[in-house]
Amino acid sequence: MKLDVTINGEMRTFNIAPKDTLLAVLRREGYFGVKHGCDDGTCGVCVVLLDGEAVLSCVMLAAQVAGKSLTTIEGLGTREALHPLQEAFVEIGAVQCGFCTPAQILAAQALLDEKGYGHTGSTSLPISEGEVCGGVGGVLCRCTGYAKPVQAVLMAAERMRAAAKGDA
Ligand code: FES
Ligand code: FES
Repeated sequence: MKLDVTINGEMRTFNIAPKDTLLAVLRREGYFGVKHGCDDGTCGVCVVLLDGEAVLSCVMLAAQVAGKSLTTIEGLGTREALHPLQEAFVEIGAVQCGFCTPAQILAAQALLDEKGYGHTGSTSLPISEGEVCGGVGGVLCRCTGYAKPVQAVLMAAERMRAAAKGDA
């Protein structure tokens, strides 16, 4: 069967089997930022954004995303212009082996989006350390690196809030 889906702003069409998971299709098509971990919805490293919401691509059928819009880490920033979350992760040293990093950043992005960060003219709601822990904590880090990712998300949130207000 054919799957039409927008990925990182680009319309794509893939040939898929009805039983293909979204994770399998994305990796087969070269989106290697989507990581393959437990395959049963436990570890969180396969997170992608589906119409802005963080979802686990290993427990979702590719056919379920027909006509929808996906964001993977490849679509968040560029090498030349990193997204504020990517910038903060690098600056703070929140990346160890990096296996969980794409999913942690996408989970954080979903949280910041929900709170209105990064949208010019919108009012961003305050965000607490606890909320950030809840947002990225579902993505298991085998290097046990949670403190710095949380710090990085808070730093990015502050920068995005300041930029939206025109303070930065
Ligand atoms: S690979 Fe999807 S939750 Fe672990
Ligand atoms: S940085 Fe290694 S798994 Fe998180």
